[in-house]
Amino acid sequence: MKILKFFILFFFFISCNKGGFLTSVNSPDNKILLDFKIVDGRLLYSINKEDKAVISESSLGLILKNDIDLTKGFKIKNQKQTSFNDNWNPLFGEYKTIKNNYNQLTLELNNNKTEINIEFRIYNDGVAFRYILPKQKSIQNYDLMDEITEFNLSSKDSAWWIPGFSYRRYEFLYANTGIDDISKKVYSDLVEEISYDSLGIDAAHTPLTIKKNNGILISIHEANLVDYSSMTLSPKGKGSLEVELYPWSDGIKVKSDNGIKSSWRTIHIAENSSGLLESNLILNLNDDPDEKDDFSWVKPGKYMGVWWEMIGTNESTWWPSKYHGANTKKVFNYIDFASKHGFNGLLVEGWNKGWYPGWCCSGNGIPFSFTESLEDFDFKKISLYSSKKNISIVGHHETGGQIENYENQLEDAFKLYNQMGVKYIKTGYVNDVSRNIKRTDQNGNIIREWHHGQYMINHFHKVIELASKYKLSIITHEPIKDTGLSRTFPNFISREGAKGQEFNGFSSNGVNHATDLPFTRLLSGPMDYTPGIFQLNNFRYDKPGGKIDKNATVPSTLAKELALYVVYYSPMQMAADLPKHYKKHLRAFDFIKNVPVNWETKIILNSKISEYLTIARKDIDSDNWYVGGITDEKKRNFKINLDFLDESKDYTAKIYKDTSETHWDKNPMEYSIESIKVNKDSKLDIYLAPGGGFAIEIIKN
Ligand code: NOJ
Ligand code: CA
Repeated sequence: MKILKFFILFFFFISCNKGGFLTSVNSPDNKILLDFKIVDGRLLYSINKEDKAVISESSLGLILKNDIDLTKGFKIKNQKQTSFNDNWNPLFGEYKTIKNNYNQLTLELNNNKTEINIEFRIYNDGVAFRYILPKQKSIQNYDLMDEITEFNLSSKDSAWWIPGFSYRRYEFLYANTGIDDISKKVYSDLVEEISYDSLGIDAAHTPLTIKKNNGILISIHEANLVDYSSMTLSPKGKGSLEVELYPWSDGIKVKSDNGIKSSWRTIHIAENSSGLLESNLILNLNDDPDEKDDFSWVKPGKYMGVWWEMIGTNESTWWPSKYHGANTKKVFNYIDFASKHGFNGLLVEGWNKGWYPGWCCSGNGIPFSFTESLEDFDFKKISLYSSKKNISIVGHHETGGQIENYENQLEDAFKLYNQMGVKYIKTGYVNDVSRNIKRTDQNGNIIREWHHGQYMINHFHKVIELASKYKLSIITHEPIKDTGLSRTFPNFISREGAKGQEFNGFSSNGVNHATDLPFTRLLSGPMDYTPGIFQLNNFRYDKPGGKIDKNATVPSTLAKELALYVVYYSPMQMAADLPKHYKKHLRAFDFIKNVPVNWETKIILNSKISEYLTIARKDIDSDNWYVGGITDEKKRNFKINLDFLDESKDYTAKIYKDTSETHWDKNPMEYSIESIKVNKDSKLDIYLAPGGGFAIEIIKN
């Protein structure tokens, strides 16, 4: 039974004169302080941690249609301070138990005839706030024209960021610059040419990781994004960032008949890079599933796929051809291999009608069918065979970003998968053009929306709700950002939402991207990165895809590919390479077979943003621990202290690591495996090659 502690602490005005007002709230451990004030009718907040500024005085407010200006003219009506302290257990995750402990300030504000509430929650590891505009008589139209929330930092603070309002959604490498330099121009100079992509403004996506000049690290993001629009952060100069929401094509940011509830704006505050990785703020700001909803059918797992042979090795096609990958015979072979090695699922891409060589990426392609199989894919036979072999097909819905076509078929498509025993669907929204999601308006005109605006937020919500009706778990590629909704809908099991392994298939992420992800994108939630490529060079065929770079390498080492199963959390983990490549390294493959996907706890053993990271995780179902460590292009020596092990137990550690000869570019598939006895007093010396890593399985004897 859950024990809720919800105390009303006090209920009074601290200072109130001439429209002025000031109040302060501490975090439960008293280290973080939120100050809120009204000065000349304007709403201002600031955040400090101990004696250091986190956010200096910054404005709050909304602007609605019909000149309803909710940025000034405010008076306080009521304030209430409450406290909450509870533990909860996710269905599966990185931790068995999560503590949710905060002090809350609820403000009821008056602006002429308009009432609006702002809620702040102050945690030991950050602050969150949101706007709630209740339905009220004085407002006919709730259309939101702008949110002017500011985050005032310092020009000396720097950020790791990817550009918003740009063609490829979240699929970009990270730039690291001063926060005033967040712009398409700077990004084009440093990372990738995007300055031609001129729709929208200069802004960064969230989570946005910031290193403050005073040493504090913060991640600004949002939680519980429902029926609102995604927030980006736009630099206004002198260290100031302002919320910029993705607009609808008519310029309105959020449409509503019913009042407005923004997502939570979150500022996760850490003293060091490891602290950045330890927060549950985003999940804590979401709700448990509705009591009537049973999600016990959602199961984390591991899957293989008829996938890398299209994306990486280039030996098969999604579309009908003599190289078609998703044919019954091949799918049977994959099922045999996946089943023999204890996997739960097999992704099959290119099973349905609609694929052709030019399918990608304009958003205007021939629409896909989600119910009709290609001729050489015998769905019934495959369904029977896979269930006999304890493998669930991971279905595939590439929408090409054609939402209406998908929504029209959604229920039939889910029904079919449900009948065929499919338990997971990988969805995809490749449409690599800015503001190019087609929608038909009331007059029958085709208009185009952003991938991140309210239209798409609502689409993803619709998909996840309907999927739960058919007991389907969704892994979304080209998704909307993760804002912790998987707490309420555990069947939103994983998602991409960054440059994943696929880019090492058709181009390259470079050797340093893998150590950026944990400190940026992964702060929002699990990622379907699809690790586990073993054939890291000489893997590309030049048929049927034509001319390709045969010298390409996946910029990693085999031992690092193993480490990623521990370092990157996802309840659905793919073993992305082909059976024929795994067969060459079956002893190393054991690690992928054994590594769990559901954890009791994690410990960050070392880290430096963007440079290196080692995580230890304890299996939820046994006494075993798993450790993964990765480095950027630099080689490193780590001393790994096993003092997290149980005092009274002995263990055997199986260590998979680079050798002195390994190098991500020159010699990536060289590794060693050794087994040694360890206990709580053990300290391991581990060498990580340039671009490399290591993985350890620690089994209780
Ligand atoms: C992009 C996805 O990220 C990738 O995994 C998939 O194979 C292609 N789209 C085709 O759907
Ligand atoms: Ca993708």
